[in-house]
Amino acid sequence: KNIALVAGGYSGEYVISVQSAAVIEKHLDSSRYNVYKIAITRDGWNYTGADGQAVAVDRNDFTLTINGNKIKFDAVFIGIHGTPGEDGRLQGYFEMLDIPFTSCGMVTSALTFNKSYCNKVVASLNVVNVSKSVHIFRDQPFDTKAILQELQLPVFVKPAEGGSSIGMSKVNTAEELEPAIEKAFKEDVQILIEEFVKGREITCGLYKANGEFTVLPATEILSTKEFFDYEAKYTPGKAREVTPAEAPEEVISLIQATARKLYDKLNCRGIVRMDFIWEEEKNRLFFLEVNTMPGQSENSIVPQQVRAAGKTLQEFYGTLIEECLR
Ligand code: DAL
Ligand code: MG
Repeated sequence: KNIALVAGGYSGEYVISVQSAAVIEKHLDSSRYNVYKIAITRDGWNYTGADGQAVAVDRNDFTLTINGNKIKFDAVFIGIHGTPGEDGRLQGYFEMLDIPFTSCGMVTSALTFNKSYCNKVVASLNVVNVSKSVHIFRDQPFDTKAILQELQLPVFVKPAEGGSSIGMSKVNTAEELEPAIEKAFKEDVQILIEEFVKGREITCGLYKANGEFTVLPATEILSTKEFFDYEAKYTPGKAREVTPAEAPEEVISLIQATARKLYDKLNCRGIVRMDFIWEEEKNRLFFLEVNTMPGQSENSIVPQQVRAAGKTLQEFYGTLIEECLR
């Protein structure tokens, strides 16, 4: 089968996307799949062959023509974090072309990629606590005093559509709010200001194949930084990731059951990683976010969870392809 592995992307997570795609490429079974890695960047959509020649994708039908032969793809493995691989844009494009792909569909991708809209939908499902937040837009007036009246410090300021904690800050004092908002607006035209929940961060990858869930062992993140920021995420030693998480069994069960409910109610497909905060003091579980394109780099969490589940990455990526082809 011909598989296009799309890599790169247009966002600040480009570097991570390249690392994720490299891991995926290394573990795709070459005896089953002819893999064509296609870089999708603002400079073009190109496949680079063994001869080093770049071949541009025909964007009308997502094909390649190599030495006069037209190559069509049976499926696309999307390996791009951020836009346009995680936010529904490529998903919509492949849906229009009727080419199966390994992630959630357009609507789910777009919804979950926007942390603010996703929080509102998840809160309405009544399956998990969602912390209080305010959504503001760069081109609309906002009042930091009013925000501080509505929300209790500390808060997180996040670009609404981002990833890997880029542009994100934790705000402990009123004076820090304005600069944090400015920083986030450098990354996105809309941002989310969210009440901080003191607790333990636990994350869990899951996917469905043949209608059956596989819920991977959960991971607890113990960051040496103030929060699990970009540096902590990708610098070995800056965070300790414990898989399986050492939280009480009933907490892990609750996390796994909640992740499953959200997966179904949000109509997810493929591998999704759901992040939660367990507020230990009050034994309450809070939703943090859904990642429909969880990192696959050597330092990322999902590959660790797959290995902890006793599976190889080759099996795992193969399952994702076969499922999208079903
Ligand atoms: N956004 C990064 C890649 C993740 O969720 O793993
Ligand atoms: Mg994320």
